[in-house]
This record gives sequence, C-alpha cells and structure tokens, in this order.
Amino acid sequence: MLKKLAAGVALMALVAGSAHAAEEVEVLHWWTAGGEAAALNVLKDNLAGQGVGWKDMPVAGGSGVQAMTALRARVTAGDAPTAVQMLGFDIKDWSAMGVLGDLNELAQKENWDMVVPAALQEFSKHDGKWIAAPVNVHSTNWLWINKAAFDKAGGKAPETFDDLLKMLDAFKAQGIVPLAHGGQPWQDGTLWEAVVLSLGGMEFYQKAVIEADPAALGGDKMKEVFEAMSKLRAYFDPNFSGRDWNLSSAMVIEGKAGAQQMGDWAKGEFLRAGQKPGTDFVCIRFPGTQGSVLFNSDQFVMFDIGEGEERSAQLKMAAAVMDPAFQSSFNVVKGSVPARVDVADTAFDDCGKKGMQDLADASKTGNLAGSLAHGHAQPSAVKSAIFDVVTQHLNGQITTDEAVKRLPEAVAAAQ
Ligand code: GAL
Repeated sequence: MLKKLAAGVALMALVAGSAHAAEEVEVLHWWTAGGEAAALNVLKDNLAGQGVGWKDMPVAGGSGVQAMTALRARVTAGDAPTAVQMLGFDIKDWSAMGVLGDLNELAQKENWDMVVPAALQEFSKHDGKWIAAPVNVHSTNWLWINKAAFDKAGGKAPETFDDLLKMLDAFKAQGIVPLAHGGQPWQDGTLWEAVVLSLGGMEFYQKAVIEADPAALGGDKMKEVFEAMSKLRAYFDPNFSGRDWNLSSAMVIEGKAGAQQMGDWAKGEFLRAGQKPGTDFVCIRFPGTQGSVLFNSDQFVMFDIGEGEERSAQLKMAAAVMDPAFQSSFNVVKGSVPARVDVADTAFDDCGKKGMQDLADASKTGNLAGSLAHGHAQPSAVKSAIFDVVTQHLNGQITTDEAVKRLPEAVAAAQ
C-alpha cells in the first residue's frame, strides 16, 4: 500500500514536472528595481494566464552589464536560458554567432514589419529575419524633478544647460542635494550622452557618438562637454560613488534631492512610490535636448533550443510581448513607450504621452538616435572605452584636456 502510494506520488511528480517543463520559459533579465519588477510581473501574469511557467533568472545591475556577463557564462557552459532581455548591439553580436532562435514565421504571421519602427528593426532582425521581439522604447535624455523643490525654485522648466545650472543652484540654496547621481560607469555614460546632445545638438551627437568621428571626439565642443560634466559633478552629494540608479530616484522621490538625469525607467520608481507626474514629480527633456530622442529598446531574444515544447513556450512569450494590449499595460508601468506604432496613448500618463509624441516627432524630423550608454550606438567594446574616459574624468582622475585627448584614442583602440 505504502509502496503503491509512493509510486503514485512519484508518478504525479513526474507528470507535474514534465507539464511544467513543457510550458516554461527561463528568462534572464536585469529588472530587479521596484518599478522594473512591477513591469516584469505584467509579463509573468500574462504568460501564467496562457499556462506558460516562468523560471526567473534575475541578474541585478542597471543597463545589463552584469546580466550579459552571466549570459556568457551560461552559454559557455552549454546551458543557455530560453529567453533573454537584450539591447541593441548585443543582439547583433549574439545573432551573428548563430545561436538565436528564428522568430520570422511568427513575425510574418503577425505583421511585425508593418508596426515596428525601422530604427528598432535594425536590431530585431538578422539577415532580414526576425530574431528578437521588442517590448518597449526607452529614452535616456530626461530629467526627473521633485515637484515641491521645482515650485520653490520658481516652477519654470530649464530650457538650456545654463538654465539647468541655475535651477541646481536654487536646489542647493534649499539645502537639498541638487543632482542625485549614481557613480557607475553606465550612469556616468548616460549623463554624458545627455550633455553631448544638450551642448552639441543632434548633428554633433551623430558625428561624435554614432560615427565616432575622431575630430568630433577630440575637438573643442567635446572639451565643453567635459567642462560641463565637471560643473554637474559639483552638484552631486559626497556619497554618489557606486550608488544604484533607483536609490538616486528615491532621493528625488523623498525630497532629499532636487533632480535626477536618467532614462524613463526612473518613472517606474516614482509610480511605484505612489507619485504622480505633474503633482509629485516633473518630467522634462534634459535641458537643451528638447525635440531630440536618444532611444534604447529592450528586446527579448530566444536562444535556439531546437523544436519541441520549450520552443512553443518561447513563441508564446514572443507573441505575448508583441501583443498591442500587452505593450500598453506593460509600458504604462515600466516608464517606457510601446515598440509598436499602432498602440494608443490613452492609458499613459502625461510623461508617457509626451514620450510617445516626442518619439514620433523625432523620427520624422531626423532627431532620433541610439543611446550609447544603453547599447544602441556602438558595439560594447567602444561603449566601454568611452565609459572609461568619462568615469575617470568625472572622478577627477584625469583632467579635461586629458579626457579630450584620450577619448578618440580609446575609441580607436576599441574599434
Ligand atoms: C536599461 C534598460 C531598462 C532599464 C535600465 C536600468 O538598459 O533598457 O529597461 O532596466 O537599463 O536597469
């Protein structure tokens, strides 16, 4: 009797186990901050509703640097996760290795060609075939401001870099940290690209960052950019080194700091804290960058694991990610905007509506470019080379003149 029971339990476990495995995706991602995790839950719930299980493989670390290291280790060990959050040039690298699953049939059936902007398709396709499903479009040239501090400082949005400095002075006079910053290379890079765009405009950003033109990387305008970075550093608090981005957002949320320059994933933190745009916080384009958008898009790639039931779970996940209703409900929470052009802005708050409008306008006027710090401007070796110079300069290890001299050299060496 006991034996029979044990065998029955074992059989049940086996059946449960295989049913689980058949309909499961293992997802490697770096969405571990409060707002990010809340958005991820929208995806988990959607898949659970379709009977697809979720094995979580979170790797903390903004912008995914650590996640990509963990991924390399998994693939080297012959144990690739089924689905991976990935950005721009990393997608290109992995697809060139021929290890990603083909999503082309699904994409054709669902007509992704017609609804995903060309700027994103550039990264979602390899050799003309879909290999990634874009879940959002983020943008990095934003400034997040505490509303009470903003009102006290006069309540007028700064329009230029000099206006920004005036507002930061006003925050200083209020006795709060003027600019909340986290000293990690990717965050230094995110601030730097906003300053490049602010002082140089889109034409200069294209030359220096997208084309990596040595004259632009080492010229007078770049010197101004590094000088401006030194000015901004004077508004950080002494504990900025190594701080995670969401802790800087918390400083603004709690009124300990006036503002944070960060991509619109920061909005997810404000929303999670129960704050509302226009009432508790203000979102504006980084002063001097109005009309331009530096974008990055989180995409999910599916590793090639052959045919079978795991493959069917992968396809269900890709289809869920691209579903228009899902793109609305997910991005409302995440702070990003849909990766499809046919999703209405109705469910979005004012920052989200502005994000969608800005993206549409910028792509029409040619003022849309990929974010360097988030993998959409250069391969990761060049990105890291630029981060090195920017971080060393921001930490006072090299002078402005040295930074301007080293930047084109470092880029050339990494190319
Ligand atoms: C970006 C990513 C965002 C957000 C951010 C901070 O690279 O695209 O979704 O997660 O990093 O972690």
